[in-house]
Amino acid sequence: MSSLAQRFGIECPLVQAPMAGATTPELVAAVSQAGGLGSLGAGYAEPQAILDQAARIRALTDRPFALNLFVLPDDFVPDMAAVARARECLDALMEREGLAVRTSLPARWAPRFSEQFAALCEARPAVASFAFDLLTPVQVQELQRRDIYVVGTATTAAEARAWADRGADAVCVQGAEAGGHRGGFLHADEAPLIGLFALIPQAVAAAAACGREVPVIAAGGIMDGAGMLAAEVLGAAASQLGTAFLACPESSAAEAWKRDLLAAEDRRVATIRSFSGRAARGLRNRYVEAMEGMVDRLPAYPVLNALTAPLRRAAAAAGRADLVSEWCGQAAARVRPQPAAELVARLMHEYRLARRTLAH
Ligand SMILES: Cc1cc2nc3c(=O)[nH]c(=O)nc-3n(C[C@H](O)[C@H](O)[C@H](O)COP(=O)(O)O)c2cc1C
Repeated sequence: MSSLAQRFGIECPLVQAPMAGATTPELVAAVSQAGGLGSLGAGYAEPQAILDQAARIRALTDRPFALNLFVLPDDFVPDMAAVARARECLDALMEREGLAVRTSLPARWAPRFSEQFAALCEARPAVASFAFDLLTPVQVQELQRRDIYVVGTATTAAEARAWADRGADAVCVQGAEAGGHRGGFLHADEAPLIGLFALIPQAVAAAAACGREVPVIAAGGIMDGAGMLAAEVLGAAASQLGTAFLACPESSAAEAWKRDLLAAEDRRVATIRSFSGRAARGLRNRYVEAMEGMVDRLPAYPVLNALTAPLRRAAAAAGRADLVSEWCGQAAARVRPQPAAELVARLMHEYRLARRTLAH
């Protein structure tokens, strides 16, 4: 068992990725109960919902779990001319597609991070992971004082070093293959797409340069136990799998999304900015193609995300999966729909088998 697995109190170096909009307390609890580390993506959740969902996980399991947030400023002052342009374009698209829904200005563009952070501290999960930016040194200390293990997301070696220097206990490196939003923060275009094989060894070296042992968790395109072992051979202490868990019955991904994963051709899985204003990996569909010419003129995250959220909900309700964000990693078609506990057992079995095979 790796030292990280020991520290997490898990049996196998397997982390189920936080996936805001898809992870549920039921999924997280099932994974943790089965011996992995379940993570709840709480980036879109208001503080009370974070507390409620953490309580629900605790009602289902007494095993350790992780909560995950997006590190963002508390307030946003968008360019309202860009907002108006985006609304016009989105409303015209909905009209062309025969959907009655139209954009509106939300009361707030996103939950306030400082309030989410306070709720997370109160919920006191064993592990807290973060994407989109660094925490402040004070915030890192605040978590560690509560005995919460801090994991920061990095998409480059420089970001891994930045999190290590900031005092993170571990760094989750997100390879280009990964589904969902790019978690990086240092590089202007948000999307340096370093493949996981190139990233792990460089991130391990960069994190170690801070003078402490900072384990690296590998994320991106890992769908089975052999992939987990490959990441470990390259220097990772654990693997974080997202897409692999999306089609579990406990995931709240829509049925159409789950079905589309199975048919996802690797070449159709792209980095997309037009749903949320931030680069994220998912399936290219009719919406993505329709918005292609507009991408550079759209507002940034979370403004565009808030504008498109009601449209995506209405499109999903109307059975128009071709207008909905279906995030997934490059290996989506290898997803194996089954209850989360069974998937964890299968991954662990494959991982151990691969270890034995490699040893011979
Ligand atoms: C639907 C979806 C939502 C995601 N949401 C989050 C999130 O809320 N926070 C986060 O740190 N990472 C998020 N990720 C990224 C994962 O942490 C991880 O990097 C990714 O799932 C790994 O690649 P894979 O999907 O190929 O396994 C998300 C990924 C997916 C597929």
